[in-house]
Amino acid sequence: MMMDNNARVAVIGAGTMGAGIAQVAALSGHRVTVVDANERALLNGSAGVTKALTASVTRGLMNADEAAAVASRIIWTTSIDDIVDTKLVIEAIIEDEKAKAALFAAVSDRVANDAVLASNTSSLSIDQIAASVPYPERFIGLHFFNPASLMQLVEVVPGSRTSPEVVDAAMALMRAWGKRPVLVRDVPGFIVNRVARPYYAEGFAAFEEGIAPDIIDHALTSCGGFRMGPLSLADLIGHDVNYAVAASVFDAYDGRTRFRLQPTQRALVDAGKLGRKSREGVYKVGQRPSPAFATSAPAPSSIRVSAAGGTSVKLFREAGLVCHDDPDLPFGIVEVDDVRLAMTDGRPLAVRDDVDALADVSRDFGITNTIVITARDDNAASKVAGLVQATGRSTLLLPDRPGMIVLRTLAQLANAAADAVEDDVAGVAAIDEAMTYGANHPEGPLHWAERAGFDRVALALTNIATASGDNLYLPAKWLARA
Ligand code: NAI
Repeated sequence: MMMDNNARVAVIGAGTMGAGIAQVAALSGHRVTVVDANERALLNGSAGVTKALTASVTRGLMNADEAAAVASRIIWTTSIDDIVDTKLVIEAIIEDEKAKAALFAAVSDRVANDAVLASNTSSLSIDQIAASVPYPERFIGLHFFNPASLMQLVEVVPGSRTSPEVVDAAMALMRAWGKRPVLVRDVPGFIVNRVARPYYAEGFAAFEEGIAPDIIDHALTSCGGFRMGPLSLADLIGHDVNYAVAASVFDAYDGRTRFRLQPTQRALVDAGKLGRKSREGVYKVGQRPSPAFATSAPAPSSIRVSAAGGTSVKLFREAGLVCHDDPDLPFGIVEVDDVRLAMTDGRPLAVRDDVDALADVSRDFGITNTIVITARDDNAASKVAGLVQATGRSTLLLPDRPGMIVLRTLAQLANAAADAVEDDVAGVAAIDEAMTYGANHPEGPLHWAERAGFDRVALALTNIATASGDNLYLPAKWLARA
């Protein structure tokens, strides 16, 4: 089954997602019929597409004639009868199973028996919707991300009865539309909404412990390499929406601990602090303070490093600091005057008598401008701050907690991804691709884990689980084996 751009496409629902999907299809040359029950939604959808096309012309991405041609390929209508000759129908109406079932019954009455029918659902089961679709072998999930015109990922979700030809055709069509389709099993949250949960959960867990939100967010953007910190991102998405996704995943997996809900986020929702759209969430709009970096500290008078070196030693030497090799120092430990520093391995400082301070991980120490540290006392904090500042970076001081903040978040994301591999949701490469192009993460969670060392990540998780007494952190079997 081939679907070239001569095939007419129908999109049902002209809201946030439907209008964007229609724009993508029309840009690829398809004639598109957009149906919405609400006249105003059609007007808004059409205005949104016009605005996007005008912006493309302004930026020189297309000329005015091309933009007009794209716009002219889309018909906006309230009548479902207008979909009769479409070869593909993509449903993007409200997230309600009964409404979708009724819609697909109406759609099936109007299109050919071999027209492909797709749902953009985020949280409903493809098989459950397929139960109300005649000829379910032509039914499939096509989960686009918001904004659909910009986000590259599409999760392609076959149901148990979807034919292989329809799967292949859907994958090929999404590629033709300039998307990155990733094949996903029909499980709650698919890949992205499932694997991304720890990003928010870890941010809220630290916030609940009383750690300043701007420290959490800055640590994850600066050292984690994420475009937005978890709390700022949840403010942008809206806590009602973000919490609802978390709750649907949690419920669908019968409360499996990896998907545990965050009471602090729930409290924000209950208080009507939904984020930017209500002008207040974790932050008040326009009032976001910047994190309190350590004040300027004296440069170290002596730096001793284990002879085997390590990542940090390279940084110090690159900054022109003189590091003395000390064969008696254990690997990975740096001695700054009278203070010993190591990278966190998940164990809190409280249980370590070999060091006085810990540094959190970074996705790339070479480019980060901040190092997150935990110190036993003021002397240790000041000596480490002096060392870090001598490399041209700032320090953020974190209370002693297992796995600190960046390691704990990255390790727990890898853990959720490993769970998904183990549950056969998708393969390793597909999960990494989905998190990169659907969640905008700088790198796939398992790619990071491989770079960091699967064994070290599994050990860190075990250490965090032991120190916190929380099974949530126990490494997934797949990770422990990898
Ligand atoms: P929306 O509320 O912006 O748009 C839904 C549109 O469907 C509305 O214009 C409404 O008038 C129309 N509609 C409702 N019932 C209808 C019916 N029976 N027939 C025709 N039109 C009908 O919703 P949004 O955000 O675009 O979501 C649509 C679907 O996409 C949902 O299933 C949602 O879970 C999914 N989705 C949403 C994402 C998002 O970030 N907003 C991301 C990925 C998927």
